[in-house]
Amino acid sequence: MKVVTVIGARPQFIKCAPVSRELRKMATEVLVHTGQHYDDTMSEVFFRELEIPRPDYNLGVGSGPHGVQTGETLKRIEEVLLEERPDHVVVYGDTNSTLAGALAAAKLHIPVAHVEAGLRSFNKRMPEEINRVMTDHISTLLFCPTETAVTNLTQEGMTQGVHLVGDVMYDALHSNLLLAERMSTILEKLGLRSKGYLLTTVHRAENTDQPENLSNIVNALIEIAESGQTVVFPVHPRTRKQLDALAGNGCAGLLMIDPVSYLDMVVLEKNAKAVLTDSGGVQKEVCWLGVPCVTLRDETEWVETLADGRNRLAGADTKRIYAAVCAALAAPEFAPPVVHPVGAANAIITCLANGRG
Ligand code: UD1
Ligand code: UDP
Repeated sequence: MKVVTVIGARPQFIKCAPVSRELRKMATEVLVHTGQHYDDTMSEVFFRELEIPRPDYNLGVGSGPHGVQTGETLKRIEEVLLEERPDHVVVYGDTNSTLAGALAAAKLHIPVAHVEAGLRSFNKRMPEEINRVMTDHISTLLFCPTETAVTNLTQEGMTQGVHLVGDVMYDALHSNLLLAERMSTILEKLGLRSKGYLLTTVHRAENTDQPENLSNIVNALIEIAESGQTVVFPVHPRTRKQLDALAGNGCAGLLMIDPVSYLDMVVLEKNAKAVLTDSGGVQKEVCWLGVPCVTLRDETEWVETLADGRNRLAGADTKRIYAAVCAALAAPEFAPPVVHPVGAANAIITCLANGRG
């Protein structure tokens, strides 16, 4: 069996690491990096740390408006697929690389396997929502991380080829946590002590491209820092550009740093008192780690995290964010739940090997 895997953005490197490791035991994998993310801190560092094999192709697409980025990626992936003629194309998540990979394959009648199928925010203004809905509808194998995702697909009439496999990000976290705690020196480097700081990440289009939303979030972070808390903020390059435009340099107590590696991030997450984020992956990881989360959005695809209050929605509203952080800090610590006892990566490989649709 020959499988082309398409990845291109930070969370996709992390998601593919456990799957590629298993896949290569029983199939030929051709790894395609679209080049959507290209800074060392957004790409290369994950290949080194997670021992992801070198990509067979780097399409070098880079940044650009949605049409340019998705269109260029589609064109270049099609050339690879015509050359490689795989049995399956595996795509992850909901980025422009995901949609381009799925579309190129589906038009060539190559079965598409979508990892993280069925997620919905029901907000069509999110580029990711468009990407994931489109990708699901042209996929042959739909690998769902949650029961909610399966239900979402059923409601859209998709029942064939749907498999509840668990979450590959859980696999990644599970297999790297001990290593991260042994190897990472990020706490010492930043002068932090365990449970002595908050952690934040912001990169969603709705929060970075709307100056009012970004200002509201930064003002909340400044208020939190000025109340005596330390807030660590690894800044996504997209956000860095907008912060520079806002001339937002924060204040003492708000540590704006470059994006960190996965092992450093996991350690920062685990040792934080609370986390503020608009990232899908970070919401899940911190909830699994038993760290209270405040989500800087009005909705989340990961509705399970809201169920028992471990995650709180606060949008981009300064007062709401501040109040949610106070509530999170006052709440007792949660024990990490065992969300996915069985390896999602193994379940995916089994379905691919069986050619189950
Ligand atoms: C993309 C995904 C988003 C995902 C995120 C993960 C889409 C539509 N969005 O958002 O779903 O959550 O990745 O991080 O696919 N940039 C750099 N260096 C890089 C990469 C990006 O400077 O290595 C800057 C560029 O100015 C670029 C901007 O960040 O224009 C946005 O990058 P892009 O890949 O278009 O979207 P993300 O916001 O990263
Ligand atoms: N992450 C990281 N370094 C950072 C920020 C995030 O390694 O500086 C990891 C994080 O632990 C998670 C993934 O990147 O595994 C989430 O990616 P991101 O927030 O970029 O995208 P999303 O999950 O929102 O699509």
